[in-house]
Amino acid sequence: MEPTSSRESLDASPRIDVRDATPVDAPELAELINAIIARGGTTALEEPFTPERLADAYLIGSSVLCCFVAVDRETGRLEGFQTLGRYPELPDDIGDIGTFARIDGKQRGVGSALFAATRERARQIGLSAINATIRADNIGGLTFYGKMGFMDHSVVPGVALKDGGRVDRVSKRFPL
Ligand SMILES: CC(C)(COP(=O)(O)OP(=O)(O)OC[C@H]1O[C@@H](n2cnc3c(N)ncnc32)[C@H](O)[C@@H]1OP(=O)(O)O)[C@@H](O)C(=O)NCCC(=O)NCCS
Repeated sequence: MEPTSSRESLDASPRIDVRDATPVDAPELAELINAIIARGGTTALEEPFTPERLADAYLIGSSVLCCFVAVDRETGRLEGFQTLGRYPELPDDIGDIGTFARIDGKQRGVGSALFAATRERARQIGLSAINATIRADNIGGLTFYGKMGFMDHSVVPGVALKDGGRVDRVSKRFPL
């Protein structure tokens, strides 16, 4: 069972602010996402990011439609981020989403707070839907997007992993 499923002890009243990501956030967010990649088992990503590559891919690069960060109001620590971007295999009016919350985070509601902002911005920029592609073994990720209102769309079976294993990729869609 993946560690993200033990949520009982987390604080259910988050004290977080949500704002647009900036280039200055890149080193802290690279550390945040690299910890998730190193733990394995959830994100489909397998290679760590440099701050520069993360900024280009997810924060401010030309394919990025928007990216929001969740900030702890008391400590200023970045607790998570959510990116929405163009993906070559999707129509122009469908954005592709990725969500990452700190693995040592103590607060619940980071992903939901981020999605409220992303959903609003996606509507403002005129998208028709948001796509989320999730590993079929990422129960936390599947549950999270389902809870946000994403509906099952399609499955690509047996996508290869670096270690030789294979896992299905599930795509879910949120209509705007
Ligand atoms: C998936 C992820 C973004 C969720 O972020 P989060 O801040 O924990 O999400 P929230 O606290 O806002 O959760 C909202 C709802 O999603 C569901 N949920 C979130 N994480 C869950 C988990 N690990 N197991 C079961 N349900 C989960 C719950 O139903 C929750 O509702 P509840 O608070 O009423 O129980 C976070 O666990 C994460 O970063 N995972 C690793 C990266 C990843 O898998 N990203 C998704 C694919 S891109």
